[in-house]
This record gives sequence, C-alpha cells and structure tokens, in this order.
Amino acid sequence: MESVTRSESKSMALVSVGHSGKAAPGQFYMIKCGDFPVVPRPYSVFYEDLAGGTTTFLIKARGLQTSQLVEMKPGDVLKIRGPLGSPFPSLVNAVLVAGGCGFAPLHFYARQYGYSSFFLGTETYEELAFLCLFDDLKETHGDNMVTDLFMESPVDGPLIACGPSRMLRTLSETDRKDPVYVSLESRMACGTGMCLGCPAKMKDGTILLVCKDGPVFSGRDVDWEWLT
Ligand SMILES: Cc1cc2nc3c(=O)[nH]c(=O)nc-3n(C[C@H](O)[C@H](O)[C@H](O)COP(=O)(O)OP(=O)(O)OC[C@H]3O[C@@H](n4cnc5c(N)ncnc54)[C@H](O)[C@@H]3O)c2cc1C
Ligand code: FES
Repeated sequence: MESVTRSESKSMALVSVGHSGKAAPGQFYMIKCGDFPVVPRPYSVFYEDLAGGTTTFLIKARGLQTSQLVEMKPGDVLKIRGPLGSPFPSLVNAVLVAGGCGFAPLHFYARQYGYSSFFLGTETYEELAFLCLFDDLKETHGDNMVTDLFMESPVDGPLIACGPSRMLRTLSETDRKDPVYVSLESRMACGTGMCLGCPAKMKDGTILLVCKDGPVFSGRDVDWEWLT
C-alpha cells in the first residue's frame, strides 16, 4: 500500500505515491485502488524521484478506476506493482510525439534523456495548459491532430511516440529513414505475461504480449491492420 499526493486540472491529475522502483521511461506499474475494478490497470511512469522516494502518474479520468484516481486525496492509499515492461531506448536527439496522457512516459523520457523536439496534442485547451511543462513544446489541441502538426514541420531523428493507436500507426507509416518506437495501448489484467490478454501481432506473423514483450515496440514491426 502506498500513500498519495496530487495536483490536478478538471480532467487530469498528477498522482504521486510514496514508492520508487527504479523505473526507466516507458515502463509502467499495475495500480489498484478500492475494491472495484477488481483487476488492476496499467499506468506509465510520469516521473520517478529516486531521491525523494516518489513515483508520479498522470491520470486522465475516463472510466471507473481513472475517475477514482483523479479524486484521490493526499494520504489515501493504493496498491502498485512494478516497474513492468520494456523501456524506450535511450537515444541522442530523439523526437518525441505525445497524444493525451501518452505525455506521461515522454515527460519522463525528456527529463531523463533530453530531446530535440517535443510535439504534444490534447483533446482540450485545459489539458494542454496543464501539460505545458516545457518551454519549447510544439502543441495543438481539439480537432487539430498532433500528427498533422508533425507532418507540417517534420524533424529528422529517431521518433519516440505514445498516444492513441491511430496516431502511432500514422507516425509508423510515414516515409522516414529514422527508427520509430511506439508504446502500444492494450487492455491488461496481469501485466506480466500470465493471462495472455494483451496480444499484438507483428508484420512477420508473430503474436507478442504488450505487457511482457512491450509496451515499447518498433512501430515498423507492428501489424497495424490487425491492431487498429
Ligand atoms: C502501458 C500502458 C500505460 C498506460 N498509461 C496510462 C497513463 O499514464 N495514464 C492514464 O490515464 N491511462 C493510462 N493507460 C490506460 C489505462 O490503463 C486504461 O485506460 C484503463 O483501462 C483505465 O481504467 P478505467 O477503469 O478508468 O477505465 P475502463 O472502464 O477500463 O475503460 C474506460 C474506457 O476506455 C476504454 N479503454 C480502456 N482501456 C483501453 C485501452 N487500453 N485502449 C483503448 N481504450 C481503452 C474502454 O473501452 C472504455 O471506453 C495506460 C495503458 C497502458 C496499456
Ligand atoms: S496483461 Fe496478462 S498477458 Fe499481458
């Protein structure tokens, strides 16, 4: 059981727990709070402060558990397990592209390894204002897609992306020579490869598990027809 502190906007909250597990950017924890939902849910690390002994998550309310998490009060407790999954590679001059709460692992990445450009798209202006934590963010919100913003002013360099599957697919299918690393979305139950509940098909026909083999994959290897 770990205790909670927080900061919030209307639909999003940063929830810090008194725990640090030496996570790397792109890894996630399985979190459970209260009796329902019975199965824990996965959340990427937004920031881990090893010295202070805290791990922070960015939560966007959209279902039962995320609504509970954004409502948590300082001192409340929750259960967390991790860090789990494969991290993003540490690269020089990576180009970061985030959609919504896909900002969480890229924020951690930017703080840990730096970046050459950072693109962010959110549903609302309020979310954008909440997440505007870097001076040089190239940002957009509402109906203006972050992928369009990226295509209008493409930047060379390896891509690191997290957000909705359609966004990841578009970025993976752009005609670029540089590698593209994506953190895939999936429903999860165990988070460790036991329940086989998070399959992702690759172009070579293999079926991998998002929790154990990912969530970070080369976007060029993913069979997007199967996934989206
Ligand atoms: C590796 C990983 C990291 C994640 N990191 C974060 C994070 O940092 N912050 C955050 O807020 N969320 C994150 N998520 C998503 C979060 O775990 C799910 O949205 C979770 O199901 C929310 O639980 P809930 O009970 O609130 O909503 P649920 O009741 O489970 O679902 C609410 C709505 O979201 C849809 N949905 C649920 N899960 C998914 C999914 N995986 N993909 C697409 N649609 C889905 C459902 O169909 C439903 O419409 C992450 C997911 C993964 C796989
Ligand atoms: S969540 Fe159980 S195998 Fe991935």
